[in-house]
Amino acid sequence: RMPILEQCYNLMDFEAVARGVMKKTAWAYYSSGADDEITMRENHSAFHKIWFRPRILVDVEKIDFTTSMLGTKVDIPFYVTATALGKLGHHEGEVVLTRSAKKHNVVQMIPTLASCSFDEIMDAAEGDQVQWMQLYVNKDREITKKIVQHAEKRGCKGLFITVDAPQLGRREKDMRSKFTDTGSNVQAGSQTDNSQGAARAISSFIDPALSWKDILWFQSITKMPIILKGVQRVEDVIRAIESGVQGVVLSNHGGRQLDFARSGIEVLAEVMPVLRERGWEDRIEIYVDGGVRRATDIIKALCLGAKGVGIGRPFLYAMSAYGQPGVDRAIQLLKDEMEMGMRLIGCSSVDQLNPTLVDTRGLSMH
Ligand code: FNR
Repeated sequence: RMPILEQCYNLMDFEAVARGVMKKTAWAYYSSGADDEITMRENHSAFHKIWFRPRILVDVEKIDFTTSMLGTKVDIPFYVTATALGKLGHHEGEVVLTRSAKKHNVVQMIPTLASCSFDEIMDAAEGDQVQWMQLYVNKDREITKKIVQHAEKRGCKGLFITVDAPQLGRREKDMRSKFTDTGSNVQAGSQTDNSQGAARAISSFIDPALSWKDILWFQSITKMPIILKGVQRVEDVIRAIESGVQGVVLSNHGGRQLDFARSGIEVLAEVMPVLRERGWEDRIEIYVDGGVRRATDIIKALCLGAKGVGIGRPFLYAMSAYGQPGVDRAIQLLKDEMEMGMRLIGCSSVDQLNPTLVDTRGLSMH
Protein backbone atom coordinates (compact mmCIF):
# COMPACT_ATOMS: atom_id res chain seq x y z
CA ARG A 1 0.00 0.00 0.00
CA MET A 2 1.13 3.53 -0.73
CA PRO A 3 2.44 5.34 2.35
CA ILE A 4 0.56 8.49 3.30
CA LEU A 5 2.36 11.73 2.55
CA GLU A 6 3.17 12.40 6.20
CA GLN A 7 5.26 9.23 6.19
CA CYS A 8 7.74 10.83 3.80
CA TYR A 9 10.43 12.29 6.03
CA ASN A 10 13.07 13.17 3.48
CA LEU A 11 13.54 13.51 -0.27
CA MET A 12 14.70 9.93 -0.72
CA ASP A 13 11.38 8.68 0.66
CA PHE A 14 9.55 10.25 -2.29
CA GLU A 15 11.76 8.35 -4.69
CA ALA A 16 10.96 5.05 -3.01
CA VAL A 17 7.23 5.72 -3.13
CA ALA A 18 7.33 6.97 -6.73
CA ARG A 19 9.13 3.88 -7.88
CA GLY A 20 6.26 1.76 -6.62
CA VAL A 21 3.40 3.81 -8.04
CA MET A 22 4.63 5.42 -11.26
CA LYS A 23 3.98 4.09 -14.74
CA LYS A 24 6.94 2.07 -15.95
CA THR A 25 7.81 4.38 -18.84
CA ALA A 26 7.65 7.46 -16.61
CA TRP A 27 9.83 5.88 -13.95
CA ALA A 28 12.31 4.77 -16.61
CA TYR A 29 12.51 8.28 -18.10
CA TYR A 30 12.85 10.15 -14.81
CA SER A 31 15.16 7.80 -12.99
CA SER A 32 17.58 6.85 -15.73
CA GLY A 33 21.13 8.02 -16.14
CA ALA A 34 23.55 7.55 -19.02
CA ASP A 35 25.36 4.28 -19.68
CA ASP A 36 26.37 2.61 -16.42
CA GLU A 37 24.92 5.44 -14.33
CA ILE A 38 28.24 5.92 -12.54
CA THR A 39 28.01 9.70 -12.73
CA MET A 40 24.40 9.68 -11.61
CA ARG A 41 25.34 7.78 -8.46
CA GLU A 42 28.46 9.84 -7.90
CA ASN A 43 26.44 13.06 -7.96
CA HIS A 44 24.88 12.22 -4.65
CA SER A 45 27.72 10.27 -3.11
CA ALA A 46 30.22 13.08 -3.78
CA PHE A 47 28.44 15.06 -1.07
CA HIS A 48 29.29 12.24 1.33
CA LYS A 49 32.98 13.03 0.92
CA ILE A 50 32.58 16.49 2.41
CA TRP A 51 32.43 16.91 6.17
CA PHE A 52 31.55 19.86 8.35
CA ARG A 53 33.74 21.89 10.67
CA PRO A 54 31.00 23.59 12.68
CA ARG A 55 31.50 26.66 14.82
CA ILE A 56 30.31 26.69 18.41
CA LEU A 57 28.95 29.34 20.72
CA VAL A 58 27.52 31.64 18.10
CA ASP A 59 24.02 32.93 18.50
CA VAL A 60 21.83 30.80 16.26
CA GLU A 61 18.49 31.56 17.78
CA LYS A 62 17.26 33.21 14.61
CA ILE A 63 18.16 31.62 11.31
CA ASP A 64 17.76 33.43 8.00
CA PHE A 65 18.52 31.40 4.90
CA THR A 66 16.94 33.70 2.37
CA THR A 67 19.24 34.76 -0.42
CA SER A 68 19.14 36.23 -3.89
CA MET A 69 19.73 34.45 -7.18
CA LEU A 70 20.13 36.51 -10.37
CA GLY A 71 18.64 39.42 -8.48
CA THR A 72 15.59 37.54 -7.20
CA LYS A 73 15.04 37.20 -3.48
CA VAL A 74 14.21 33.60 -2.59
CA ASP A 75 13.28 31.82 0.64
CA ILE A 76 15.96 29.14 0.39
CA PRO A 77 19.03 28.80 -1.87
CA PHE A 78 17.71 26.32 -4.38
CA TYR A 79 15.59 26.38 -7.52
CA VAL A 80 13.40 23.77 -9.14
CA THR A 81 15.52 22.89 -12.14
CA ALA A 82 14.27 22.12 -15.64
CA THR A 83 13.17 18.55 -16.20
CA ALA A 84 11.37 17.61 -19.42
CA LEU A 85 8.03 15.81 -19.80
CA GLY A 86 6.22 16.61 -16.57
CA LYS A 87 3.01 14.98 -17.78
CA LEU A 88 4.62 11.56 -17.76
CA GLY A 89 4.45 11.68 -13.98
CA HIS A 90 1.39 13.85 -13.34
CA HIS A 91 -1.53 14.64 -15.67
CA GLU A 92 -1.22 18.39 -15.04
CA GLY A 93 2.50 18.48 -15.71
CA GLU A 94 4.91 21.32 -14.87
CA VAL A 95 2.27 23.74 -13.59
CA VAL A 96 2.13 21.61 -10.43
CA LEU A 97 5.74 22.61 -9.79
CA THR A 98 4.93 26.23 -10.64
CA ARG A 99 2.27 26.42 -7.94
CA SER A 100 4.48 24.83 -5.35
CA ALA A 101 7.39 27.13 -6.24
CA LYS A 102 5.08 30.09 -5.74
CA LYS A 103 3.89 28.84 -2.38
CA HIS A 104 7.46 28.49 -1.11
CA ASN A 105 8.94 31.50 -2.89
CA VAL A 106 11.49 29.62 -4.93
CA VAL A 107 12.24 29.91 -8.64
CA GLN A 108 11.23 27.36 -11.24
CA MET A 109 13.26 26.85 -14.40
CA ILE A 110 10.94 26.07 -17.32
CA PRO A 111 12.24 23.35 -19.66
CA THR A 112 12.18 23.75 -23.44
CA LEU A 113 10.69 20.27 -23.55
CA ALA A 114 7.96 20.83 -21.00
CA SER A 115 4.73 18.90 -21.41
CA CYS A 116 2.71 22.03 -20.78
CA SER A 117 3.23 24.87 -23.21
CA PHE A 118 5.56 27.67 -22.17
CA ASP A 119 2.63 30.08 -21.93
CA GLU A 120 0.60 27.69 -19.76
CA ILE A 121 3.47 27.59 -17.30
CA MET A 122 3.95 31.35 -17.37
CA ASP A 123 0.20 31.79 -16.91
CA ALA A 124 0.21 29.47 -13.90
CA ALA A 125 2.66 31.81 -12.19
CA GLU A 126 1.04 34.32 -9.91
CA GLY A 127 1.81 37.93 -9.14
CA ASP A 128 5.49 38.67 -9.22
CA GLN A 129 6.57 35.01 -9.22
CA VAL A 130 9.91 34.74 -11.00
CA GLN A 131 10.63 32.04 -13.56
CA TRP A 132 13.64 31.17 -15.65
CA MET A 133 13.85 29.40 -18.94
CA GLN A 134 16.02 26.46 -19.96
CA LEU A 135 16.91 26.48 -23.63
CA TYR A 136 17.81 23.71 -26.02
CA VAL A 137 19.12 25.50 -29.07
CA ASN A 138 17.38 24.60 -32.29
CA LYS A 139 19.30 24.08 -35.54
CA ASP A 140 16.89 26.65 -36.94
CA ARG A 141 18.03 29.81 -35.17
CA GLU A 142 14.90 31.69 -36.18
CA ILE A 143 12.85 29.29 -34.04
CA THR A 144 15.27 29.74 -31.16
CA LYS A 145 15.19 33.51 -31.52
CA LYS A 146 11.40 33.51 -31.36
CA ILE A 147 11.39 31.31 -28.26
CA VAL A 148 13.96 33.48 -26.49
CA GLN A 149 12.33 36.78 -27.32
CA HIS A 150 8.93 35.45 -26.37
CA ALA A 151 10.29 34.29 -23.01
CA GLU A 152 11.77 37.72 -22.40
CA LYS A 153 8.54 39.44 -23.36
CA ARG A 154 6.63 37.21 -20.95
CA GLY A 155 8.94 38.29 -18.15
CA CYS A 156 11.37 35.41 -17.75
CA LYS A 157 14.31 36.52 -15.63
CA GLY A 158 17.04 34.18 -16.79
CA LEU A 159 18.04 32.20 -19.89
CA PHE A 160 19.76 28.93 -19.04
CA ILE A 161 21.34 27.56 -22.19
CA THR A 162 22.03 23.85 -21.90
CA VAL A 163 25.54 23.20 -23.16
CA ASP A 164 26.09 19.59 -22.14
CA ALA A 165 23.75 17.96 -24.62
CA PRO A 166 24.94 18.26 -28.26
CA GLN A 167 23.61 14.71 -28.44
CA LEU A 168 21.33 13.12 -25.89
CA GLY A 169 23.01 10.52 -23.72
CA ARG A 170 22.12 6.81 -23.89
CA ARG A 171 19.76 6.13 -21.06
CA GLU A 172 19.27 2.45 -21.50
CA LYS A 173 16.52 1.99 -18.94
CA ASP A 174 14.55 4.59 -20.86
CA MET A 175 15.38 3.06 -24.23
CA ARG A 176 14.20 -0.36 -23.11
CA SER A 177 10.84 0.98 -22.03
CA LYS A 178 9.90 1.74 -25.67
CA PHE A 179 8.40 5.10 -25.21
CA THR A 180 5.31 5.73 -27.33
CA ASP A 181 3.51 8.88 -26.20
CA THR A 182 5.64 11.98 -26.01
CA GLY A 183 2.93 14.02 -24.28
CA SER A 184 5.04 17.06 -25.00
CA ASN A 185 4.78 20.32 -26.86
CA VAL A 186 7.89 19.24 -28.71
CA GLN A 187 9.45 21.23 -31.48
CA ALA A 188 10.44 18.15 -33.45
CA GLY A 189 6.84 17.57 -34.35
CA SER A 190 6.04 14.37 -36.18
CA GLN A 191 9.59 13.40 -37.05
CA THR A 192 10.20 11.67 -33.75
CA ASP A 193 11.76 8.28 -33.42
CA ASN A 194 10.01 6.46 -30.61
CA SER A 195 12.10 3.32 -30.71
CA GLN A 196 14.88 4.84 -28.63
CA GLY A 197 13.09 5.93 -25.49
CA ALA A 198 11.54 9.23 -24.50
CA ALA A 199 14.71 11.25 -24.52
CA ARG A 200 15.84 10.50 -28.03
CA ALA A 201 12.34 10.74 -29.40
CA ILE A 202 12.17 14.42 -28.63
CA SER A 203 15.70 15.69 -29.06
CA SER A 204 16.46 15.58 -32.76
CA PHE A 205 16.11 19.34 -33.22
CA ILE A 206 19.00 20.16 -30.84
CA ASP A 207 21.98 21.73 -32.63
CA PRO A 208 25.27 19.89 -32.08
CA ALA A 209 27.12 22.75 -33.82
CA LEU A 210 26.38 25.18 -30.98
CA SER A 211 29.60 26.98 -30.04
CA TRP A 212 31.05 29.97 -28.17
CA LYS A 213 30.34 32.36 -31.02
CA ASP A 214 26.63 31.66 -30.58
CA ILE A 215 26.82 33.09 -27.06
CA LEU A 216 27.61 36.49 -28.61
CA TRP A 217 24.55 36.09 -30.78
CA PHE A 218 22.37 35.31 -27.76
CA GLN A 219 23.67 38.44 -26.08
CA SER A 220 22.60 40.42 -29.15
CA ILE A 221 19.02 39.10 -29.16
CA THR A 222 18.13 39.26 -25.45
CA LYS A 223 18.67 41.32 -22.34
CA MET A 224 17.89 38.39 -20.05
CA PRO A 225 20.85 37.22 -17.98
CA ILE A 226 22.51 34.29 -19.76
CA ILE A 227 23.64 31.27 -17.77
CA LEU A 228 25.45 28.26 -19.24
CA LYS A 229 24.00 25.05 -17.85
CA GLY A 230 26.30 22.05 -17.87
CA VAL A 231 29.80 23.49 -17.37
CA GLN A 232 32.33 20.90 -16.13
CA ARG A 233 35.78 22.48 -15.91
CA VAL A 234 37.39 25.61 -14.62
CA GLU A 235 38.75 26.62 -18.04
CA ASP A 236 35.19 26.92 -19.32
CA VAL A 237 34.09 28.93 -16.29
CA ILE A 238 36.89 31.39 -17.06
CA ARG A 239 35.87 31.54 -20.69
CA ALA A 240 32.26 32.09 -19.60
CA ILE A 241 33.35 35.04 -17.47
CA GLU A 242 35.40 36.45 -20.33
CA SER A 243 32.37 36.06 -22.59
CA GLY A 244 30.34 38.21 -20.24
CA VAL A 245 27.67 35.70 -19.27
CA GLN A 246 26.05 36.15 -15.87
CA GLY A 247 26.24 32.61 -14.59
CA VAL A 248 27.13 28.97 -14.99
CA VAL A 249 25.58 25.80 -13.64
CA LEU A 250 28.22 23.24 -12.77
CA SER A 251 26.23 20.22 -13.78
CA ASN A 252 26.36 16.93 -15.63
CA HIS A 253 22.64 16.91 -16.40
CA GLY A 254 21.82 14.64 -13.49
CA GLY A 255 24.17 11.96 -14.85
CA ARG A 256 22.10 11.66 -18.01
CA GLN A 257 24.72 12.79 -20.51
CA LEU A 258 28.43 11.91 -20.30
CA ASP A 259 28.98 9.02 -17.94
CA PHE A 260 32.16 9.62 -15.91
CA ALA A 261 31.63 13.35 -15.93
CA ARG A 262 32.52 14.57 -12.44
CA SER A 263 29.89 15.74 -10.00
CA GLY A 264 29.06 19.43 -9.91
CA ILE A 265 30.14 19.75 -6.29
CA GLU A 266 33.55 18.28 -7.12
CA VAL A 267 33.96 20.72 -10.00
CA LEU A 268 32.93 23.57 -7.70
CA ALA A 269 35.77 22.68 -5.35
CA GLU A 270 38.14 22.96 -8.28
CA VAL A 271 36.67 26.17 -9.69
CA MET A 272 36.36 28.46 -6.68
CA PRO A 273 39.99 28.56 -5.56
CA VAL A 274 41.03 29.50 -9.10
CA LEU A 275 38.44 32.29 -9.27
CA ARG A 276 39.44 33.57 -5.84
CA GLU A 277 43.09 33.62 -6.85
CA ARG A 278 42.16 35.92 -9.75
CA GLY A 279 39.76 37.96 -7.64
CA TRP A 280 36.99 36.92 -10.04
CA GLU A 281 34.59 35.25 -7.62
CA ASP A 282 32.11 38.13 -7.84
CA ARG A 283 32.12 38.36 -11.61
CA ILE A 284 29.75 35.45 -12.10
CA GLU A 285 27.07 33.51 -10.21
CA ILE A 286 27.96 29.86 -9.82
CA TYR A 287 25.23 27.25 -9.43
CA VAL A 288 25.51 23.52 -8.93
CA ASP A 289 23.06 20.72 -9.59
CA GLY A 290 23.00 16.94 -9.40
CA GLY A 291 22.34 14.70 -6.44
CA VAL A 292 21.24 17.41 -4.02
CA ARG A 293 18.92 15.58 -1.62
CA ARG A 294 19.54 17.12 1.80
CA ALA A 295 19.80 20.67 3.07
CA THR A 296 23.30 19.74 4.23
CA ASP A 297 24.12 19.25 0.52
CA ILE A 298 22.88 22.78 -0.16
CA ILE A 299 24.93 24.12 2.74
CA LYS A 300 28.07 22.35 1.50
CA ALA A 301 27.67 23.89 -1.96
CA LEU A 302 27.20 27.37 -0.48
CA CYS A 303 30.20 26.95 1.81
CA LEU A 304 32.28 26.17 -1.26
CA GLY A 305 31.06 29.29 -3.06
CA ALA A 306 27.88 28.41 -4.96
CA LYS A 307 25.11 30.99 -5.07
CA GLY A 308 22.50 28.26 -5.05
CA VAL A 309 21.72 24.75 -6.23
CA GLY A 310 19.24 23.15 -8.59
CA ILE A 311 17.15 20.15 -7.62
CA GLY A 312 15.47 17.94 -10.21
CA ARG A 313 14.29 14.39 -9.69
CA PRO A 314 13.04 14.65 -6.10
CA PHE A 315 10.31 17.08 -7.14
CA LEU A 316 9.33 14.92 -10.10
CA TYR A 317 8.95 11.97 -7.75
CA ALA A 318 7.01 13.97 -5.16
CA MET A 319 4.73 15.32 -7.91
CA SER A 320 4.18 11.92 -9.50
CA ALA A 321 3.31 10.24 -6.23
CA TYR A 322 1.30 12.91 -4.44
CA GLY A 323 0.70 15.87 -6.76
CA GLN A 324 1.23 19.38 -5.43
CA PRO A 325 0.93 18.40 -1.74
CA GLY A 326 3.91 16.12 -2.33
CA VAL A 327 6.04 18.88 -3.83
CA ASP A 328 4.94 21.27 -1.08
CA ARG A 329 6.01 18.79 1.56
CA ALA A 330 9.33 18.06 -0.15
CA ILE A 331 10.19 21.76 -0.14
CA GLN A 332 9.00 22.19 3.44
CA LEU A 333 11.20 19.28 4.53
CA LEU A 334 14.18 21.00 2.91
CA LYS A 335 13.35 24.25 4.70
CA ASP A 336 13.15 22.42 8.04
CA GLU A 337 16.42 20.62 7.36
CA MET A 338 18.01 23.91 6.32
CA GLU A 339 17.13 25.64 9.56
CA MET A 340 18.58 22.81 11.59
CA GLY A 341 21.67 22.44 9.43
CA MET A 342 22.52 26.14 9.60
CA ARG A 343 22.02 26.16 13.34
CA LEU A 344 24.17 23.11 13.93
CA ILE A 345 27.12 24.38 11.90
CA GLY A 346 26.85 27.72 13.69
CA CYS A 347 25.66 30.10 10.99
CA SER A 348 22.61 32.31 11.24
CA SER A 349 22.64 33.58 7.65
CA VAL A 350 23.94 32.41 4.29
CA ASP A 351 26.56 35.15 4.02
CA GLN A 352 28.35 33.46 6.95
CA LEU A 353 28.80 30.22 4.99
CA ASN A 354 32.43 29.90 3.91
CA PRO A 355 35.05 27.30 2.94
CA THR A 356 36.48 26.96 6.46
CA LEU A 357 33.22 25.29 7.52
CA VAL A 358 33.83 22.26 5.32
CA ASP A 359 36.55 19.64 5.14
CA THR A 360 36.95 18.67 1.47
CA ARG A 361 40.02 16.46 1.85
CA GLY A 362 37.88 13.44 0.93
CA LEU A 363 37.21 14.77 -2.57
CA SER A 364 39.27 12.98 -5.20
CA MET A 365 40.97 16.17 -6.43
CA HIS A 366 43.13 16.19 -3.32
C1 FNR B 1 16.59 16.54 -16.73
N1 FNR B 1 17.51 17.57 -16.96
C2 FNR B 1 17.32 18.43 -18.02
N2 FNR B 1 18.19 19.46 -18.22
C3 FNR B 1 18.02 20.31 -19.25
O1 FNR B 1 18.81 21.22 -19.41
N3 FNR B 1 16.96 20.14 -20.11
C4 FNR B 1 16.05 19.15 -19.95
O2 FNR B 1 15.11 19.02 -20.73
C5 FNR B 1 16.23 18.25 -18.89
N4 FNR B 1 15.36 17.23 -18.70
C6 FNR B 1 15.50 16.39 -17.62
C7 FNR B 1 14.58 15.39 -17.41
C8 FNR B 1 14.67 14.56 -16.31
C9 FNR B 1 13.65 13.51 -16.08
C10 FNR B 1 15.76 14.72 -15.40
C11 FNR B 1 15.90 13.86 -14.18
C12 FNR B 1 16.69 15.70 -15.63
C13 FNR B 1 18.65 17.78 -16.04
C14 FNR B 1 18.25 18.65 -14.87
O3 FNR B 1 18.03 19.98 -15.25
C15 FNR B 1 19.34 18.66 -13.76
O4 FNR B 1 20.58 18.94 -14.34
C16 FNR B 1 19.39 17.35 -13.01
O5 FNR B 1 18.11 16.78 -12.91
C17 FNR B 1 19.95 17.56 -11.61
O6 FNR B 1 20.11 16.35 -10.98
P1 FNR B 1 19.07 15.72 -9.92
O7 FNR B 1 18.64 16.79 -8.95
O8 FNR B 1 17.94 15.18 -10.72
O9 FNR B 1 19.90 14.66 -9.29
